[in-house]
Formats: sequence, C-alpha cells, structure tokens
Amino acid sequence: MNQVTYQGLTFVPYITAERIQARIAELGRQLTDEYRGRNPLFICVLNGAFPFAADLFRQIETDAEITFVRLKSYEGMSSTGTVKQVMGLTEEIKDRPVIIIEDIVDTGRTIQGMLEYLKGFSPASVKVATLLFKPESLVCGSDPDYVGFSIPSKFIIGFGLDIDGMARNLPAIYVLKEEE
Ligand code: IMP
Ligand code: MG
Repeated sequence: MNQVTYQGLTFVPYITAERIQARIAELGRQLTDEYRGRNPLFICVLNGAFPFAADLFRQIETDAEITFVRLKSYEGMSSTGTVKQVMGLTEEIKDRPVIIIEDIVDTGRTIQGMLEYLKGFSPASVKVATLLFKPESLVCGSDPDYVGFSIPSKFIIGFGLDIDGMARNLPAIYVLKEEE
C-alpha cells in the first residue's frame, strides 16, 4: 500500500483491505446469529456507507432486506453539525427489527438524526452497525451497537469515506499524514 494524495494533502495507509474484509465477515456472522429468522431491514446511510453495506449484507446468511437513505452532514473535513435528509424511506418498517448501516460515527449527530427520524415509524428495534467509530468525538447519543474498528479522532478516507466527494473508491482506509 502506498500513500495517496487528494487536494494537495497526503494520506498514508491505515487499515488494509484484508483487515476490513475480515472484520466485516465477523460482523456478518454475529448479525446472522442475532437476526436469524427475524427478517431484519438494513438501512444503508448514503453516500459513505455503500461499500460497507454491500460487503456486510452479503455476509448475512439469513433472510433480510436492505434499503437506502441519503443524508449529508459533512463539508470538506469537518462536520457542519446539521443533518440534511436528502432521500427518505419508503419501506414498511413498523414492528420490524431495523439495523442502520453507517460508514463512520464521529460526533454522533447523523445517527442521532436517523434515530429520531425512525422513531416515527415504530420499528420493533433499531440498532446501529458502523464500520468505524471515533469514541473521542462523540457528543451526541450513545455508542453504536456493532463497530468494525474504533479509531482516534483523525480524518480518514477510503472504503466509502470521502474528501469532498473523492477517495470513496479506495479499497482500503487511509489517514491524513501528520506534519513532520
Ligand atoms: P457525525 O454526524 O459527526 O457522526 O458524522 C458522521 C458522518 O460524517 C459520516 O457518515 C461521514 O460521512 C462523515 N465523517 C466523519 N468522520 C469522517 C472522516 O474522518 N472522513 C470522512 N468522512 C467523515
Ligand atoms: Mg456518511
């Protein structure tokens, strides 16, 4: 793995594609065991969560459905602090177990916004599965239920995570290089 450059910033390898896939397989096994026979609805939060959702969902070995909502709360490298819902839910979620799939929980505002929104639909339960979690940044709500990797509060890209729309296609995760 080599370093990559976006917008004049250098990013260095942080989590390899192999480690990501191994961890997603573990999460998939855990979710399969916990939701077997319950027909859960996975809700992927676009845009960032799509690679994680695609890989995680294929590791679910029991009947399940997936749908997508689109939210936006980030501009560049810092949270704008507001969640703009761009595209809503059409599926029937009343009395169903729901699992939200996120790429990363940072301040927790996005997830908090999602949880508030979903309450109105009376699901049987709502859990949060996130590939990445920055526990030191959390200011809102509680820890996610399923976490791929807990990481320090550094800016990362790749595997769905972007810098102004770029780098989502990287199969591994990279962290902004510290100044020498
Ligand atoms: P929160 O609402 O502060 O928890 O932020 C969640 C959203 O911010 C994620 O879904 C990402 O889109 C974005 N985000 C948070 N941290 C990073 C990062 O390090 N790189 C890229 N996007 C991030
Ligand atoms: Mg996101």
